[in-house]
Order: sequence, then C-alpha cells, then structure tokens
Amino acid sequence: MSWQGGFGGPQSGTGAYIEDQGPKSQSDWTLIRRLVKYSRERKREVAYMVASVAIFSASGVLGPILTAYAIDEYIFPGGRPGDDVTGLSVIVIAYMLISLVTYATENIQTYYMATAGQYVVYKLRKDAVEKLEKLSLRYFNNRPIGAIISHVTNDVEVFNNFLTFQSTQLISGFTSIIGIAIVMFFINVELAIVALSIVPMLALLIYLLHGRMKEAWMSTRRSVGALTAKVAESVAGIKVTQSFAAEEADEAEFAESNRRNLTTNVEAAKWSSFVGPMAQVIQSFGIFAVFYVGATIIYSGGLEIGILAAFYIWLNNLFRPVQQITQFYPQYQSAMVGLDRVLQIIDAPVDLNESPDAIEFAEVRGEVEFRHVSLRYKEGDPNALTDVNVHIQPREIVAIVGQTGAGKSTFVNLLFRFYDPDEGAVLLDGHDVRDLKFQSLRKHMAIVLQDPFLFSGSVMENIRYGNLDATDEDVIRVAKDVGLDDFIMGLPQKYDTLIRESANNISTGQKQLVAIARALVANPNVLVLDEATSKVDPFTEVLIQRALDKAFSDRTTFIIAHRLSTIRMATRILVLDHGRLVEEGSHDELLRKDGVYAKLYRIQFQNSVAPRPSE
Ligand SMILES: Nc1ncnc2c1ncn2[C@@H]1O[C@H](COP(=O)(O)OP(=O)(O)OP(=O)(O)O)[C@@H](O)[C@H]1O
Ligand SMILES: [Mg+2]
Repeated sequence: MSWQGGFGGPQSGTGAYIEDQGPKSQSDWTLIRRLVKYSRERKREVAYMVASVAIFSASGVLGPILTAYAIDEYIFPGGRPGDDVTGLSVIVIAYMLISLVTYATENIQTYYMATAGQYVVYKLRKDAVEKLEKLSLRYFNNRPIGAIISHVTNDVEVFNNFLTFQSTQLISGFTSIIGIAIVMFFINVELAIVALSIVPMLALLIYLLHGRMKEAWMSTRRSVGALTAKVAESVAGIKVTQSFAAEEADEAEFAESNRRNLTTNVEAAKWSSFVGPMAQVIQSFGIFAVFYVGATIIYSGGLEIGILAAFYIWLNNLFRPVQQITQFYPQYQSAMVGLDRVLQIIDAPVDLNESPDAIEFAEVRGEVEFRHVSLRYKEGDPNALTDVNVHIQPREIVAIVGQTGAGKSTFVNLLFRFYDPDEGAVLLDGHDVRDLKFQSLRKHMAIVLQDPFLFSGSVMENIRYGNLDATDEDVIRVAKDVGLDDFIMGLPQKYDTLIRESANNISTGQKQLVAIARALVANPNVLVLDEATSKVDPFTEVLIQRALDKAFSDRTTFIIAHRLSTIRMATRILVLDHGRLVEEGSHDELLRKDGVYAKLYRIQFQNSVAPRPSE
C-alpha cells in the first residue's frame, strides 16, 4: 500500500510553529525503500527475520490442513465415526509441534526485527545529528530549536516503537493473509472467493478512513513538535518571563499548545478506535457466508466437512492479521511521518559546501580581503552588508565600529564562513574562503562570540575546547594571561569545577574570560573578538588587554568594541554604517576627517576616562 503524502506546507492549527517548507515529503514506498537501505548493514538479522516470518506464516496455513485431515480421515472417515486412535494421536502431536513452531517463530521474528530496528534507529539519529552539525546557521535561523529536537527525539521514538513492537506483526500479517489465500484457492475456489470477499471490504474500509486517520495522526506529530518548541522556549526564557511577571501569558500560550495536542490526539484515537469494531463486523459477515456457502456445497456432496472446518479456522486465523493491520495502521502512518521528518533533516541540502578540491592550509599568514561583499540574511530583508571592500595585511589590529545593527557581527560571520556572501568574495591569504577546507579555515582562526557559549563540563575542558591538543599547563598559562586564574583557583574544584548547563554558576564577565582563554589556547593566526570584553570591569579589561598586547604581535586581530580604550589599540579602524563601509583609517585620521567616526566618537567615547595617546 502506498499513498502519496503531501504533508508539507503551512499547517493550520499548529500555532506559531510552521513545519519545514523544505523538500516535499516522500511517498510511503520511497520511505520503505530507504528503510530497507538503512537496514543493509544488518542483513543477517533481517534474513533471520524474513525466514521466521515465512515459517510462521506457513505454520498458520498448515494447522487447519492437519485439522481437516484429522476430521476427514480419522474422526469421520467417509462420514462415519472412525476408530484409529493411534493415527489421530500422531496428527495431534504434529499439530502441537506446529503450534510450538508458530510460537517460537513469532518470538524470533520480533527479536530480530527489534535488533535490526534498533540499529536503524541508532543510525537515523546519528545521521540526523551529523547533518545538523553541518547545516549552516541559515537553517537554524528559520526553525525553532524545539521543533528540531522534537524531530530527532519524539518523531524517531514513534518510529522506533512501531518498528520494534508492531512492524513484524504487520509484515507477518500480510504474508499470512497471502499464504492462507493461496492455499484456500488451491483447495476450493468457490469457498475461497467467498471467504476472501471480506478482504476487499476491509481494504475499502481502510481506504475510506485512511485520509482521516492520516490527517489526525499527522496533526499529532505536528502538535507534539509545536509543544516541544513551546516548552523549550519557555524554559530558555524563564528569567525574562518571571522578570516581567508574564507567567500567565506564557502559561496561556502553553495551555493553547497543550490543548491542541490533546484535541489532535483525541481525534486520532477516535478514528483508530472506529476501525477495529468495523473490521470485526465485516469479519463475522465473512464467517457466516463461508458456513452458508460451505454447507450448500456439502449438501450437494462437493466438499468434505473437514475442509469446511479448515476454512473456518483459516478465516479465524485471518482475523488476527487483518485486525492487526487495521489496528496498527495508524501507528504505521504515524511512524512514516516520523521517519519522513527525520529524513527531511538528513536530506536537508548543505548550503555551505566544502568543494571536493578544497585547499588545505598548513600555515596562515592572516591576510584578509573583502571584495565587493554583500549579504542579506533572508530573501526580502535589507542587506546586512553592502559592497564592502577592504584589504587587511597580516598582523594588523583592526577595530570594527558602528552602531547597533550596522553589520559588525555579520562581517566576522562571513570571515568564518558561517554564511556565504550573496555577492563578492571573502579571501584569506588570497584564497576565496569557499575554496578552503572548513578544517583549515577554522583551525587557524578563533572567535570570541558576542554571546559566548559554555558547554556543561569542567572549566578546564571548556578552555581546552579551543585546542584539544593543549596540555593542562597550556590551559593554565592562558588562564593566567587573561586574569582568570585567580577566579578559577577560588572555585571549589579549581580547574575541574563543572560549569553547569546554561552556565549559571559563573558570571557573564567570567564567561567572557573563559571564552577569550579558549580562543587564545587555539593560538590562532586570525583572532576575532566580538564585544569580547564588554561585560568585564575596567580593571579586568586592562589585564586582558595586556595579555592581548602580547597576543596581538603575531596575528591578525579584529576587535569589535565600543570602548575607546579597546579601539585605541587598533592600527586601523573600519566604520560600518547600515551595512556599508563608510570610513577607514587610524583613530587620528578619522577624527581629522570629522565624519561618521568622529561623530560616533563624540557621542559614545568622549566621556571615557582613558587619555588620548597624543596627550
Ligand atoms: N541571523 C540573522 N537573521 C536575519 N537577520 C540578521 C541576522 N543577524 C543579523 N541580522 C540583521 O543584520 C543586520 C546586521 O546585524 P549585525 O549582527 O551584523 O549587527 P552588529 O553591527 O553586530 O550589531 P551589534 O552592535 O548590536 O552587535 C541587522 O539589521 C540585523 O537585524
Ligand atoms: Mg554584533
């Protein structure tokens, strides 16, 4: 069974969260083919599973044949009571053996399916997370983090449950139905047609309801995604929420998401609960028809009673798989949606590609050039940078200044190739950064982000993150340089103190110091500091600057800062205004020019206590 799914596009009733508009969903058939591909590395388990499914189905067919044989040959041979108890006992023992085989293969198939399935799930999650690590920031800008997490956790889990607990029953159900149908036709065509007439009726039932069920189950997947996104956001923003006493509004929003999830689940349950009883009604109709037609044939002498009994048992045996198929169908749908979601992540095009013949840099001198660079973050947005041209020599100290939103962070985003420019090129040592291996591009450069992020782990690990080869001594030396050592030594476990998730046991300024140490331990040829010292006190800043003074001597440095004292260290100042590079030069040159920088200087820096160098 294959239905072309059109799950994409904006959805109604999912609140603020609009599902990925990326590549269109795939048909069930494509999804199953991909699943088979995924299980390739577990061929042996899959083979055992297939074999046990085949034996299981065959034994389901064989039992009733033995029954017919027992009735017609031993219980009522030729329509009269028989007397061969030994012969009957042999059949009974054979029947028991078959039951044993049925029981055993049922367990074996589930076991191997679960083993292969767990591998597939493991691999899907691995691929999805690996892809997420490669995707550009653009991808994440357009999606709530909670939704992405939901795809990799909830959606995969739904799929996992289906694969582990229900898929074998679906598969063996199908093969049982096919096996029983073949044998029925082989024995009595007329009776087979009557017995199997319920199958198209059941198929029709499923077909009529599947649209409804699919819709409902897809809504549940989406609403759980929206719910996760909402919870993630609530937790992340808890401080702001509390500080503005906005808990009620936030709760209301959450309640709305939660209620929507409830409604969609109830809706889905309603449709799936409808299917089972309907299937049962059709089933009993089938049994009645078989008895009626079978009896008529027996009256005319065309059939032995044992065969009718066998047909009755087969029909009963059909009941379970058919019921399972109808019952698990919604779960199957749900699982396919889950699979589709995670595959959409795995399939997401990597917009920042490393070209196959990318250049590997052993050494970087630190010459940086922007050639007619323009970028806008989103279609329709104004340019964040427009036609920026600048050529920076190795070992220059460049300060980038400009108002909030002028494009300073964007400038360094391009240098690190977090984004590719829409027009123009960014060059490092004369090579377009698009032609460089990511590894070599980022290995020689380090950035201290405007909003540094610390991982949960020890202080030591967080600093060493900049260079995994750094020894403990390297880390401690750098920490001393930036004035962090005193603080760390005061911590309960010193360098082994764990930084808690979201780094709430460390102040924002200390976080910046750790981030600076992390950048310095990498010993980069190009160092970028994006407001790196904005949160530390002037005293600490002086300490850091002394450390940096030493560090500046053999590398190219970009400093984004508002404080005059920081900007003073620059050999060149770039002034950005609404994404354009409007002025460049030294502090004194720019003051003499009396343009944008002079104005900025007068407004922002004039009250600074730092003396001017010429004074
Ligand atoms: N991820 C993004 N998606 C969409 N627009 C963005 C994104 N990041 C920045 N922008 C926009 O690009 C422009 C430049 O932003 P940028 O972060 O470079 O400014 P900035 O000079 O670093 O400002 P600040 O001093 O406040 O850090 C702004 O108008 C901003 O709204
Ligand atoms: Mg910025």
